[in-house]
Amino acid sequence: MSRALISSGGDRRDRDQQGAGVDMSTDLAGVVLPSAVLTASGCAAAGRELDAFMDITQLGAVVTKSIMLKPRSGRATPRMSETPSGMLNSIGLQGPGIDSFIENDLAWLAQRGARTIVSIAGETVDEYARLAAKLRNIGGFEALEVNISCPNVADRGQVFACRSESAAQVIQAVRRGSDSRMPIFAKLSPDVTDIVEIADSVIRAGATGVSLINTLLGMVIDTRTMRPALAGVTGGLSGPAVRPVAVRCVWQVRQAFPNIPIIGMGGIRSGHDALEFLLAGANAVSVGTAVFNDPGAPARIHHELAGLLSDRGIAQLGEVISYAHRPEVDLGVSPLEPGSGFEDWDFISE
Ligand SMILES: Cc1cc2nc3c(=O)[nH]c(=O)nc-3n(C[C@H](O)[C@H](O)[C@H](O)COP(=O)(O)O)c2cc1C
Repeated sequence: MSRALISSGGDRRDRDQQGAGVDMSTDLAGVVLPSAVLTASGCAAAGRELDAFMDITQLGAVVTKSIMLKPRSGRATPRMSETPSGMLNSIGLQGPGIDSFIENDLAWLAQRGARTIVSIAGETVDEYARLAAKLRNIGGFEALEVNISCPNVADRGQVFACRSESAAQVIQAVRRGSDSRMPIFAKLSPDVTDIVEIADSVIRAGATGVSLINTLLGMVIDTRTMRPALAGVTGGLSGPAVRPVAVRCVWQVRQAFPNIPIIGMGGIRSGHDALEFLLAGANAVSVGTAVFNDPGAPARIHHELAGLLSDRGIAQLGEVISYAHRPEVDLGVSPLEPGSGFEDWDFISE
């Protein structure tokens, strides 16, 4: 690990003072989190490793790697490939299975005092229902995130999230199997023609809110071997390359659903990026790929965001959520017109 990635105590103290007066809390369907910055599923395991680089109890929540019913070793290697401004992965949902997860990971997170959002994944609707049932009477987490970007073995491997009907069936099953008060976030795939249609189907099926977005399906061919770079051939694209797609998805879903909670993610690696998602309509943001070269990124992004809000005179993070959707103010005169009186404004000379 490069030393440059780990800020010194002095730097960190200075950074932690940025925006110290800003209320960074956010409300996700009645669950109030002290910070709107979360980890992204699959990029922080169950938080244990990242805890060496930042205090995970200071984050809004740790969103855990999607857990399945049974232990899985995932796909064959190689299963990661660097791409311009991003990376491609085909991990294949490696994990210990729900029983071990509850006993070890969830218990550790609760004992550590971290807030947790548990991500679940399955290959059939019934598997999702059984996962929900296993978690039903277990405390120690704030919400469920349902990763529906998985192949449906009962439907020729078609991804649940790519069809309204199958997406809704999963969410309906999870809703039925869960406590009625449990917030459920459906994590959607951007690989669809109309993200609003899928969001509509999962909300009708009982999702409280949505997480946007999962990775985009991509592929890299190694020109030395003249073979696909990943053993799994295709993989999920993440990192800054996907950010405009993610911001667009958040924007479109927020326009269609002014009141549902949205967790936004995709290529966030700075406070500016996080702010962009909030302005588009996200109530919270998840940081994924950025942690692979800066394991303290979620804490750094929290402080950068607080600094940006403070610079803009904003006292509560909620004030900027969806702010970019406000109607344009008609000044009645173009600020660039000579004699408009606006010529001396800073933004004109910039
Ligand atoms: C290595 C890796 C593993 C991932 N595993 C999961 C997962 O288990 N469940 C899930 O819902 N999303 C998973 N994702 C997707 C991320 O949670 C996130 O939605 C996506 O990568 C976009 O955010 P980012 O660009 O900040 O990484 C994974 C992403 C990466 C890079």
